[in-house]
Amino acid sequence: MRKSKVREIVPDVPQGLEVGLRNYWYPILQSEELPADAPVGMTVLGEDLVVWRDGAGAPQAIIGHCPHRNTRLSVGRILDGHIQCLFHGLRFNGQGRCTLIPWDLDNEQLRDELAVPSYPAEELGGYIWAYLGNAEEFPPPPLADEVPEELLDEENFVWFKVPTEIWNANWLLTLDGQDAYHSVTLHAGSQAVPSANGGDPVTMADRRIKIVETSYGIRALSTDLAGEILDQGHFTDVKGDRFVLPCLSTNPVRPRVGMDPYNVRVWQMPIDDKRTLVARFLSFRATGAEDRARLRKFFDEIALPRGSKVSAEDALIAEAQGDLVAARANEYLFKADMETVKLRRLLKKAFLDQKDGKRLAIPKEALAFPV
Ligand SMILES: [Fe+2]
Repeated sequence: MRKSKVREIVPDVPQGLEVGLRNYWYPILQSEELPADAPVGMTVLGEDLVVWRDGAGAPQAIIGHCPHRNTRLSVGRILDGHIQCLFHGLRFNGQGRCTLIPWDLDNEQLRDELAVPSYPAEELGGYIWAYLGNAEEFPPPPLADEVPEELLDEENFVWFKVPTEIWNANWLLTLDGQDAYHSVTLHAGSQAVPSANGGDPVTMADRRIKIVETSYGIRALSTDLAGEILDQGHFTDVKGDRFVLPCLSTNPVRPRVGMDPYNVRVWQMPIDDKRTLVARFLSFRATGAEDRARLRKFFDEIALPRGSKVSAEDALIAEAQGDLVAARANEYLFKADMETVKLRRLLKKAFLDQKDGKRLAIPKEALAFPV
């Protein structure tokens, strides 16, 4: 029995989950987005943060408002590795402790009282990560335990980050949009490649869908009117989980039979209940420098432009569903939506478990490179 009773704002969304699932590591910035000498302000999981690099270049993340007059600390400056409010000069370290009241230098007690919440932050794989949660109640696992396999293995993989996007949709709707059976329709134009023998793709009017169950859940195959399956480079045997808490989806892609498979990883983190930060990278198995150069070229010339179109289509759909409550209150689910329902239930369970003092860990196997 759960100790806690939480109201649902719409079925399967306990109040609070609409602004995020706390107590997980989030890739809040790309490394390049955090300069050495200037703080960055951002909103994530409904909270304003200030993020900066200390004297050693290590990332720090604390609540982004000065407790004195609520000034955004991101307009402040970094001094001695701490963030200093631009207004009256109060200074804070990466643990959120006030380290300087410029007119009351020895008042340690007052400095203690002025502390602001802070989040553990680290840099890995080209991202700045923050553990957005209560580190005392739910001690953060080592970051390396909860990131995709390839980010820990530069020898055998290469990955390319895509510019982070902001979508005007609730994050839970953007996650719904990761179902694996819409792509043959929504992305037919952007993902489709001419068949291997050079023939024209079958037109939309003459396409139908065959729903199949795979090790990666429900998928859809595009067929022609006769039921012949059109080549879309499907995978049926993959490793890892297609969805990993708190908001990571994985999509292995093979543009055409015979071409290198690659993998798209995407985090869809709530900014607030109406906007979502979409952070994405593409990864490949790679060994030598030559291989990496070839893949870089493929990413720049083919995968990135194609991925941008796919992403714009997904954003369009998420934004076209209206707000979270309206969208969920006015839906009719098919059997093929089973994966979406599972995902929603997992998020709900993870959220409610935390109310009872339990944090769902991420199994290492879930983060394996899929192909
Ligand atoms: Fe999509």
